[in-house]
Amino acid sequence: MQVSALLMAAGRGARFGADAPKQYLPLLGRPVLRHAAEALLRDGLVERLLPVCAPGEEARVAALLDGLPGVLAPVPGGDTRQRSVRAGLEALASAGPAADAVLVHDAARPVVPAGTVARLLAALAEAPGAIPAQRVTDTLKRGDASGRIVSTVPREGLWRAQTPQAFRFPELLAAHRAAPGEATDDAGILEAVGGAVALVEGSESNVKITFPEDLSRVAAGLSAGLMPR
Ligand code: CTP
Ligand code: MG
Repeated sequence: MQVSALLMAAGRGARFGADAPKQYLPLLGRPVLRHAAEALLRDGLVERLLPVCAPGEEARVAALLDGLPGVLAPVPGGDTRQRSVRAGLEALASAGPAADAVLVHDAARPVVPAGTVARLLAALAEAPGAIPAQRVTDTLKRGDASGRIVSTVPREGLWRAQTPQAFRFPELLAAHRAAPGEATDDAGILEAVGGAVALVEGSESNVKITFPEDLSRVAAGLSAGLMPR
């Protein structure tokens, strides 16, 4: 099985609010996106890794990933995550032998526990998509614009989706080409065309860096040996 991966790094990091997009910030001496790439490649199951970055940042991203095996020349993304993923999928489709499976991973997620990629790929035998996710443990409230509770949302059956998300390549490409509107993850795009997506156990360590405190939390967790690396 030919497995390719997209490393999604074309975001601006508006909520984080640093001078540089969060994927370029240092985490224990290496940029966040290099951690994310190393985590994807660690188990040796991903043959090709295609970074998708903001237009004009291709050389910078290539330099930051220098020396890692199977990294392709970065391609420019779009102004939404969905458009960036589409650009990456189209580039993969026209670059060399077609992938059987593709992983789509956020460059802003530096920690992917060992074994995650293998479990996701194994799940593709049963479904065209598989994602790591965790059951919701907090009580969920719906609020109105003024910050008052409207209702309590039953958390039964609710999961928080993470990445890397794994797909049979032809199915994800077709779903993206057909997809209406905007989805915040790729499972949502497959779901929109009726594709089945399996839930695989995710990890609390797989933090998406969104706010500065997330970066501090991951740095502390890695330093203390509490997160896999
Ligand atoms: N991403 C992308 N192209 C976009 C938007 C996002 O490749 N147009 C990537 C980001 O670089 C990130 C991942 O998708 O690795 C998840 O997105 P998110 O956490 O929302 O990152 P940003 O969009 O950069 O952050 P913000 O929404 O706060 O601006
Ligand atoms: Mg965003």
